[in-house]
Amino acid sequence: MATTETLSSHSAKRPPSLDFNPITFIEQKKQGVAHTAVAIHDFVQGVMAGTVADYQLSAWLMAVCLKGLTEDETFYLTEAFVQSGEILNLEGIEGTFVDKHSTGGVGDKTTLVVVPLLASMGLKIAKLSGRGLGFTGGTIDKLEAIPGFKVAQSTQAMREQLQQVGAVLSSQTGDLAPADAPFYALRDVTATMDNLSLIAASVVSKKIASGADVIIIDIKVGRGAFMKTLTEAKALASLCRTIGAKFGKRLETIISSMDQPLGTAIGHSVEILEVVETLKGKGSTDLEHLSLALSCVACVSAGLFPTAETAWVALKEKLNNGEAFLQFEAIVRAQGGDVEALDPETNALPQPARMATIMAPTSGYIHQIDSLKVAKAVKLLGGGRAQKTDVLDLSVGVQLQHKVGDFVEEGEVLAKVFTGKHHFNEAIETLKSAFQYATFPLDEQPPLILESSLPLFLHLNN
Ligand code: URA
Repeated sequence: MATTETLSSHSAKRPPSLDFNPITFIEQKKQGVAHTAVAIHDFVQGVMAGTVADYQLSAWLMAVCLKGLTEDETFYLTEAFVQSGEILNLEGIEGTFVDKHSTGGVGDKTTLVVVPLLASMGLKIAKLSGRGLGFTGGTIDKLEAIPGFKVAQSTQAMREQLQQVGAVLSSQTGDLAPADAPFYALRDVTATMDNLSLIAASVVSKKIASGADVIIIDIKVGRGAFMKTLTEAKALASLCRTIGAKFGKRLETIISSMDQPLGTAIGHSVEILEVVETLKGKGSTDLEHLSLALSCVACVSAGLFPTAETAWVALKEKLNNGEAFLQFEAIVRAQGGDVEALDPETNALPQPARMATIMAPTSGYIHQIDSLKVAKAVKLLGGGRAQKTDVLDLSVGVQLQHKVGDFVEEGEVLAKVFTGKHHFNEAIETLKSAFQYATFPLDEQPPLILESSLPLFLHLNN
């Protein structure tokens, strides 16, 4: 357990101290003074109770971005987030509990592959996911493309489904690390999103609250990610592991590239169809490899296999023999979703008004597909939110026909674009500008997996 000063030793859920003064607290951070566990707890409690105003939280967040938090302060903040709510009660349910988190990317549907895949190996997984905001897609929005799928599951329903099906895919409940929500919402609108300590506290607190034994975090780096450089991503990975260890948890990290979109589909219905293909062993190589890598790390950490190599073989078999897909169907059925809609032949997912294509303007090698621009194109079509309250068009999206490194002839189709009522021309122009070509091939394929805290093996890296 944690060796640092913990709130547990001060009483976990006590009310904020009467003499806590948010102005002094902000002033201290402005001067670069390290906060105590008690002061951070008081501040978080104050935010929850409404005695710390939004403008005070905003000022503190900016002071943190400028002066930083120490590892201990980051741990205290994570702990205060965890203690603001409940820990998912998994008592009485047999098995090893795994949880997985991604810091957010474009076309990142690994959760929807990894969760059924791990459940097909006998691991238990209660995955709480969020909605998309900004340029990143959200697992919960993608699931809502499946007719009837109920994303909001009560704790009791989650427990029952874990016992019966082994896995559940739910939206965040207000009970687990609720203090993260007001911090996250203000970070999003005060340019304080990318501080490593704030990200680590946000991510790790939700994983600790989910009660998992084994936690895997996929840290995205590149144009379509919060972390723009590998150095930053490595620092975040290390901080998350340190904070996890202070909670006595085995927390592993993978750093993966978000320079080009993951897989070929970006949108909601289109991503669900790509998940189905991947779960049947017919997905795009990069999506399958990253999903397998994350699952290998989970299986080895959970003690199911001694090495990533042995785990890989067994996991790949679950994709090829259809068991992973059957597990996905079981989850969809248990949550009220229409499994018939997943059949690519009948495809009863939300359908776009029309389909367009974009063509290669020249013959050459694709050197770049800027994931941020692809995400912006999908957002323009109505597939992303500008405001939390925006209603998404789940039918729109992009289906890439080529990836970085491919040679294309002039006039060859680069991508299919599924469109609705919004900003057709602007979206098409944005999408076209995402592609960059050269007359010469790339020296080597850009690596997908840049670092893993648990040794993987070579062919997983590309
Ligand atoms: N994902 C989270 O849950 N929190 C962050 O701060 C960033 C990504």
